[in-house]
Amino acid sequence: MGVEIVGLGKCLPEKVVTNDDISDLVDTDHTWIIERTGIEQRHIAAGESGTDLACKAAEEALGNIDRDSIGLVLVATVTPDAMVPVTSAQVKMRLGLDHAVAFDINAACSGFMYGIWCAEALMKNGAAPGAGTMNIQRALVIGAERLSRITNWKERSSCILFGDGAGAAVLENNPKRPGILATYLKNYDDQKGVLTCGKEYHQTPFYKDENQPQHLALRGKAVFKFAVNSIEEVTMEALKQAGLELDDIDWFVPHQANGRIMEAAAKRLNQPIEKFQISINKSANVSSASIPMALYDLSKTGKMEKGDKIAVMGFGGGLCAAAAIIEW
Ligand SMILES: CC(C)(COP(=O)(O)OP(=O)(O)OC[C@H]1O[C@@H](n2cnc3c(N)ncnc32)[C@H](O)[C@@H]1OP(=O)(O)O)[C@@H](O)C(=O)NCCC(=O)NCCS
Repeated sequence: MGVEIVGLGKCLPEKVVTNDDISDLVDTDHTWIIERTGIEQRHIAAGESGTDLACKAAEEALGNIDRDSIGLVLVATVTPDAMVPVTSAQVKMRLGLDHAVAFDINAACSGFMYGIWCAEALMKNGAAPGAGTMNIQRALVIGAERLSRITNWKERSSCILFGDGAGAAVLENNPKRPGILATYLKNYDDQKGVLTCGKEYHQTPFYKDENQPQHLALRGKAVFKFAVNSIEEVTMEALKQAGLELDDIDWFVPHQANGRIMEAAAKRLNQPIEKFQISINKSANVSSASIPMALYDLSKTGKMEKGDKIAVMGFGGGLCAAAAIIEW
């Protein structure tokens, strides 16, 4: 039995923030940003909530699919609108997905990949979400972020990198199609705290916690190195599981963190950069939303054909990394 992607959706906030706009905030310029990152612009939510973005992406991915057939909603996010209710529960309610179980996942920029892995496992093992319900026939997996709310807008080496948006995929159990051929996930330990974001809580009357930094903080060069190494490792492991070689892959869809990371990964894997989906120029790094948005962009190019093999690769805070090999 295979689990395949049968619908994709994407939603970006209306407001576009250019590199020139950023140079009004910090000491930077368009040339530096484009040369070091490949980013031309990003979309920033100005009125839209993360749930709004998630719902719009999900509606597009669902299209005409029967909403009663959705048994699972997973939202990967590091920037939920609220701690409770979780974003997936809000999406389920707003879209009327009455037969779905909903919960959120946080695996930073690899969150969508961890969501795909969970959904596939639950769909394949025959899990029935509630009394009297059928096995999960279809699942909705979403990555949705408003990273602009955790970005340090005074820090030039990080505020240039991030944007807001959402991407969604509908997965379907289909005994006749191979779909996801293999998934490989790996957690590396972030012993030096190279990619962190604290969270502010109230002090308790019983113990005074130290204040945590509340912004995304990264050691760019260390993350860059981790990204290239982990992409190589998880891709090769997933390929091994799928019984495929690098040259069998038609398209690579990596997490969109930096254009140079993708170029370095292409070199490391000895693959032409033309096989890589590059979406970072228009939407920057949108953490868990980057991969489904890039998959969506690739699907819209019209280049992908039925039967094509796609390697999807995630990496990010945690440090988490993941790769999936999918037959389209
Ligand atoms: C952040 C990143 C773009 C920085 O690029 P880099 O080539 O490593 O640049 P450096 O940090 O070494 O900085 C080089 C110089 O540019 C300066 N600089 C940093 N940001 C700048 C900016 N926005 N504009 C102009 N100059 C900048 C630095 O101060 C430094 O100056 P110095 O040489 O006088 O000290 C890059 O490391 C990166 O993309 N890393 C991974 C991204 C990431 O962590 N993503 C999140 C995880 S998924």
